[in-house]
Amino acid sequence: MEVLEAIRKRRTVRVPFTGEKVPEDIISMLMDVSNISPSGDPISWRLARVDDAVVKAGLARIVKEDFGDYFQKDGERFRRVFSEYPKWLRFSAEAQDGIRLGSFPKAARYFYSIALGRRFGPLFGKLGVMNAEIKSYCRNIMSNPVLFGVFLDRRVNSTAITPILNTGSMLQNLRLAATSLGLCYQDLGWITATKTASDKARKLLGMLENYVAVNFFRIGYTDGLERESKRSDFRRNLKDIVHVGQFGGNKYHAQPIKKTDIQLLDAIRGQGAKRDSQPVLEDDMSYILEAARWAPTGFNVQPFEFIVTERDGVAAIVVLENRERRDPDPGPCEALARGGVLQNIRLAARACGLIVEIKNLIAIDKENVREEFCIPKQYTIVTSIKVKGGSK
Ligand SMILES: Cc1cc2nc3c(=O)[nH]c(=O)nc-3n(C[C@H](O)[C@H](O)[C@H](O)COP(=O)(O)O)c2cc1C
Repeated sequence: MEVLEAIRKRRTVRVPFTGEKVPEDIISMLMDVSNISPSGDPISWRLARVDDAVVKAGLARIVKEDFGDYFQKDGERFRRVFSEYPKWLRFSAEAQDGIRLGSFPKAARYFYSIALGRRFGPLFGKLGVMNAEIKSYCRNIMSNPVLFGVFLDRRVNSTAITPILNTGSMLQNLRLAATSLGLCYQDLGWITATKTASDKARKLLGMLENYVAVNFFRIGYTDGLERESKRSDFRRNLKDIVHVGQFGGNKYHAQPIKKTDIQLLDAIRGQGAKRDSQPVLEDDMSYILEAARWAPTGFNVQPFEFIVTERDGVAAIVVLENRERRDPDPGPCEALARGGVLQNIRLAARACGLIVEIKNLIAIDKENVREEFCIPKQYTIVTSIKVKGGSK
């Protein structure tokens, strides 16, 4: 499957998987993909496969308890989540972001938008309005052919952001590779959304204390995609998320998106011809930005925006994150999502025969970039990326 085709086709699948076994050679291929993903040295993540039905049931129990906390504790997390939910769970077909809940009768939509809101959420929560949701989530944890836990090794670097970004990039490689192999994939980030839940999951899997559980995911097959009622196939338009020259600068006029003949797995492996040091063309940039646009984010909040510019005579993209578009309950999810968008950019650049240089910006760099590109305070500067031809 061609790179951008896989990036656009990849979807989170939330319906139950069939019991069909995923062949072991496919799983080892996916493990190879994880091993050649961007990483520090030594590799800072570890994947732990979960086969045992008792352990799966234990993970489901963790989610139930975690959900239960919402209704029992009247803390900050509780208030935040219930004020944000209605914003990201959408019913209308026109919604450009959030997760769209299909197949809801009109009366139920009205009821849910009130029942999941900040004011009445606690009451309806206690009455069990989320029970069906929790049940289907737990069913997905328990019945699936392949389930993995994703752990960060704190010994590698307990404070730097790079290890978790790399983990996010690795996960995006796995999602895309699974898509290109005809498999379905779902992140199960709820299991690690809070420190308490993440600690319980780590203990349950028998991992030592230096490992932190940051995500879980499942892979399998399904024959019932038409039953999918929660979808997030909307993305903000490029013209709304790309700034030219500086923040709020000229409008971006997206080019028609080209097609390359580079296959996803080849791009992941870094195979494919590199171009000489020619300028990055407009259609290269559109291709790369289109790939960035389709990166998955928790609750499909799509916080990323991009400034297209030149730095030191080279085409560059400054990646921003709008803090006003926050996942209701982010946990490690936000940082993992950043790694995902960076990986889409890397792979798309490779498909165009280009290379990227992703800068690890320190605080002072960020302040300079903020000033240079007139970036408002509510935007976090994720990184600055140079895109160029040539092999260096
Ligand atoms: C780190 C991470 C964790 C996620 N956790 C969950 C999850 O627990 N359950 C779920 O259904 N989707 C989860 N998602 C999927 C997002 O909701 C999804 O990517 C987003 O809505 C966009 O939809 P798409 O993946 O179909 O394009 C997660 C995504 C990321 C990046």
